[in-house]
Amino acid sequence: MKNLKPYWITVILLSASLVFAYGLTADAGNTMNMSVKDYEKISYGGLLYDKWYSMLGADPQGTHPSYPAAGQSKGGSTWRCKECHGWDYKGKDGAYASGSHFSGIKGIIEYAGKKPEVVHAVLKNETHAFGSMIPGDAMEALSMFVAYGQINMANYIDSSTKKVSGNIQNGAKIYTSTCAKCHGKDGKMLNFKTAEKPEYLGTIANKNPWETMHKLRYGQPKSQMVSMLFLDIHDQVDILSYCQTLPVK
Ligand code: HEC
Ligand code: HEC
Repeated sequence: MKNLKPYWITVILLSASLVFAYGLTADAGNTMNMSVKDYEKISYGGLLYDKWYSMLGADPQGTHPSYPAAGQSKGGSTWRCKECHGWDYKGKDGAYASGSHFSGIKGIIEYAGKKPEVVHAVLKNETHAFGSMIPGDAMEALSMFVAYGQINMANYIDSSTKKVSGNIQNGAKIYTSTCAKCHGKDGKMLNFKTAEKPEYLGTIANKNPWETMHKLRYGQPKSQMVSMLFLDIHDQVDILSYCQTLPVK
């Protein structure tokens, strides 16, 4: 029996690493084995999650009826999924646990992996009050995004320091071939705010890595920006890491 021991140790170690590897891919919102049709829906859904009314040319009036009175936002922006559920998909349990975007509403992360039809039913409920503003195909895309497009950002972004520990060199290569064309080598070619109070890619990557992660995966609504969703999650994390090294002002 004695010489059987190493055999069992090997079996246990191998199974453990298989479970670990599966855990990594399962969490990564892995799009590798997805059909092109499903991939398209998820990509579109991620953009709608960001700002569905600008994608759809809709104009929701006033503040969303389910947006809490205690919240500090008002008007159109309270209709954005991200305003209630967060860029990290964790609502009150994530980055929006405090601060000017606090809404006290739970996240959507528990719905990752659920059937898209189950998500669809939630989106059509009275709480969400979308009525006929979001047409069927967009609803389907949003449901696909919630079910298969989310990642657990806490696996990659430190919640207290906001730092991301990816491979900066690999991130720099991807950045140079893609992002730099529009954002510039130093990330300062596009200014997201005003000339007096500029906000560049380096600024936003350090201030709000969760938003940057969502946008680098899905792109910026109604802009020419590309989406990096097709890349392996580790490459995406590497890009974010590199963006954090860019000048913040
Ligand atoms: C004005 C705030 C608000 C907006 C905007 C909003 N939601 Fe919600 N959402 C809620 C509330 C409130 C709940 C119910 C949470 C609860 O059970 O207490 C909820 C629940 C959910 C759930 C179920 C989560 C769970 O674990 O029970 C999903 C999925 C969801 N929303 C997706 C979305 C998507 C996608 C959008 C954008 C199209 C969106 N929501 C926009 C407020 C909002
Ligand atoms: C084809 C041009 C293009 C490419 C390539 C591109 N972007 Fe963008 N990006 C834009 C435009 C345009 C905006 C919107 C600017 C605005 O709203 O003022 C934007 C906005 C953003 C924002 C949102 C900033 C905010 O606060 O709203 C982030 C984050 C971002 N880009 C990151 C990236 C990263 C990372 C890459 C590379 C993976 C990349 N972009 C590649 C054009 C591009």
